[in-house]
Amino acid sequence: MTESDCLFSVLGVKTSDRKALAEISETTGIGVTRLKYYNNSNTLPSGKALDKLCEIAAVSPVELSLKMGIIDRNILAAIQKNAHDIEALIRDDVVGKQHHAPKPAQVFHTDLGALYRGDCLSLMPHIPDDSVDLIFADPPFNLNKLYPSKMNDNLREDRYLRWCEDWAEGCVRILKPGGSLFIWNLPKWNIPLAHYLEGRLTFRHWISVDIKYSLPISGRLYPSHYSMIYFCKGEKPATFHPDRLPMEICPHCMGDLRDYGGYKNKMNPKGVNMTDVWFDIPPVRHAKYKKRKSANELSIRLLDRVIEMSSNENDLVFDPFGGSGATYVVSEIKNRRWIGIELGPVDDIVGRLENLEEEAGFLEKIRDGYNNLFTNKTLKKRRQNGLWTPDSVRNSMVQ
Ligand SMILES: C[S@@+](CC[C@H](N)C(=O)[O-])C[C@H]1O[C@@H](n2cnc3c(N)ncnc32)[C@H](O)[C@@H]1O
Repeated sequence: MTESDCLFSVLGVKTSDRKALAEISETTGIGVTRLKYYNNSNTLPSGKALDKLCEIAAVSPVELSLKMGIIDRNILAAIQKNAHDIEALIRDDVVGKQHHAPKPAQVFHTDLGALYRGDCLSLMPHIPDDSVDLIFADPPFNLNKLYPSKMNDNLREDRYLRWCEDWAEGCVRILKPGGSLFIWNLPKWNIPLAHYLEGRLTFRHWISVDIKYSLPISGRLYPSHYSMIYFCKGEKPATFHPDRLPMEICPHCMGDLRDYGGYKNKMNPKGVNMTDVWFDIPPVRHAKYKKRKSANELSIRLLDRVIEMSSNENDLVFDPFGGSGATYVVSEIKNRRWIGIELGPVDDIVGRLENLEEEAGFLEKIRDGYNNLFTNKTLKKRRQNGLWTPDSVRNSMVQ
């Protein structure tokens, strides 16, 4: 469902009123399908359609824009100029968000962290201002999935975004100056969310993580990346130490897969600079690797990268959407303090936190490959195959 109904309420019609819609269509020459498109996607009509619809609704284009909540820089400047008068007009309609809900129950804790069961919007008011170093949020994507919590994952678009703004507002408040916020979502949702965060936090990166997340859809490009928006509180992050990654090589012949501008002699032996496109994060799809039977679960490789990049030991990490607990598991392994919450069952999270050895071992293994251009094994094979290594390049420069 995508209806926002702003346009139809300006026109004084109901979506279900076919007769009234047919009349508007006839008067304006705009087909009913297009009328529904404008309304359901909350898209401001343009050109002749805008003139005609404004005429029959007896509103100006500016009033229609305001009623649809589509505000350009011109309107914004006028609002800013008249802020005093506008505030007096809207004061009673702007309701302060008061959260009186009781604190959710703590269901598990370790020396480093506490796990709650309940709604993150009820927990966040209990977290002090400016207290969290790193927030990672992977909310439901409103794709009508069935989560163990049985929450509604099929909200109207405007309601979903309002809900996202509610928890994002809480994240902004509790983030420490210099703290970092990462939101993992579909590009469709991260665009408006990034827009909301602009002016509240500082934009750092839009990170594309190459994972195919649905089947090809006819008439569309094949969705091939998740987006992760990365903001910090204040001018720059207090902590930023991205790993350097190994060079991409052919798994068979060990040869170079890219030429990195042809500058072998300039390549840092500690590895390649991390970019904002990540190709090496696998989806967790196979039941054998899943830590809970249903719904989404992120690879701990992703959380390892984010947590290493934007926090230090003993820092406080918060994830408002526990899921299978990937963030808490990685925080625990890496000696970060953490706060966790999940609306649905938490047994799988607790089970993981009680048995960390296997996942700690896995992380140790993947980290062996970081911050070195080649692993020892690869170096050996490249030498055997007569391929360049940092040593061979250095030696040839000395001669
Ligand atoms: C996409 S999953 C998170 C997966 C997690 N990142 C992982 O790797 O396991 C989103 C989770 O948020 C939970 N959830 C939804 N609304 C919530 C809320 N208001 N408060 C707390 N958890 C919520 C859902 O039950 C679901 O388990």
